[in-house]
Amino acid sequence: MKAIQIVDLTGPDSALALVDAPEPEPSHMLSPGEGVVIDVHAAGVSFPEVLQTRGEYQFKPPLPFVPGSEVGGVVRSAPGGAAVKAGDRVAGFCMLGAFAEVAVAPAHMTFPLPDSLDFRQGASLVLNYHTAYFALKTRGRLEPGETVLVHGAAGGVGTAVLQVARGLGAQTIAIVSTDAKEQVARAAGADHVLRSDGPWKDQAKGLGGADVVIDPVGGERFTDSIRSLKVGGRVVVVGFTEGSIPEVKVNRLLLANTEVVGAGWGAYLMPRPAYATEVGDAVAGLIERGFVEPIVGASFPLEQAADALKLIDSRGATGKVVLDVA
Ligand SMILES: NC(=O)c1ccc[n+]([C@@H]2O[C@H](COP(=O)([O-])OP(=O)(O)OC[C@H]3O[C@@H](n4cnc5c(N)ncnc54)[C@H](OP(=O)(O)O)[C@@H]3O)[C@@H](O)[C@H]2O)c1
Repeated sequence: MKAIQIVDLTGPDSALALVDAPEPEPSHMLSPGEGVVIDVHAAGVSFPEVLQTRGEYQFKPPLPFVPGSEVGGVVRSAPGGAAVKAGDRVAGFCMLGAFAEVAVAPAHMTFPLPDSLDFRQGASLVLNYHTAYFALKTRGRLEPGETVLVHGAAGGVGTAVLQVARGLGAQTIAIVSTDAKEQVARAAGADHVLRSDGPWKDQAKGLGGADVVIDPVGGERFTDSIRSLKVGGRVVVVGFTEGSIPEVKVNRLLLANTEVVGAGWGAYLMPRPAYATEVGDAVAGLIERGFVEPIVGASFPLEQAADALKLIDSRGATGKVVLDVA
């Protein structure tokens, strides 16, 4: 099969190679001896793959390896007891191996893809939407009627948070850096859109403040995220795309009874496979009710995976970036 491998750690420009690789066995590291084999139509591209080309991601497989954590495709074979069967359209989370014509996902991380979504949207569904639900509901304890502020709101996680938050009955405030990203955040259903280089903290407070801040960006703005909270509010730490890891003066938390909460979806999920089904069902309900419809901002042929990674690396991505494989 055709596949993209990471062959060295020199960055997205030079670390990738298009290879002819053997098809994977029906076994996955999360379900040894078993796995759903998927004919890949589209593969999702995310920040971790950019970091993996530089050896900067926490999960460091030995070189060479096929990167890519999620796919939209058609099941070729599935183990007994799986919720999907041969011929089904699915969204699958495979951790590695998605940048290829055939990939394997564990059964509990493979979800039926509704007819209303295409394969590119299927490749956009698991990582960002499960993370959004986990960060908002499980870690952020979001209640209907509350207000969510989300940074990097036009990005993959950001657009997913906007859609899921609305589906859970929240108002949303999106923080973005450009006009084009403002349009994307509005298309994802943001109630208010503010600029990251403007007085967004005061503007957010003018709108009543936030009950939950979802932060995939980190860096300098973190203290203002805490200041933008209502009494009892929660800042949920999701990522650090800005590049630096913020520090918190904890007296600020005491003054208004606020919280900073970590949200590591993978670490939470690993010992709790049933949680994937619970969130999969919740996301399926949000798709059916019209709240969740992944926004695909750019797509590239498999051979141009480097261009997809460079788009994310240069802060140019909106919504989800995908590779067309079949
Ligand atoms: N904790 C978890 O379980 C979990 C799960 C999934 C993803 N993540 C993490 O969440 C983060 C966001 O992922 P994503 O897929 O949403 O990425 P993305 O689509 O590239 O969006 C990230 C956003 O970050 C903002 N940003 C600010 N400074 C930036 C910089 N210097 N370089 C690049 N972007 C910058 C950009 O928005 P503006 O230009 O509008 O500022 C951009 O739209 C990543 O760090 C990822 O690893 C964490």
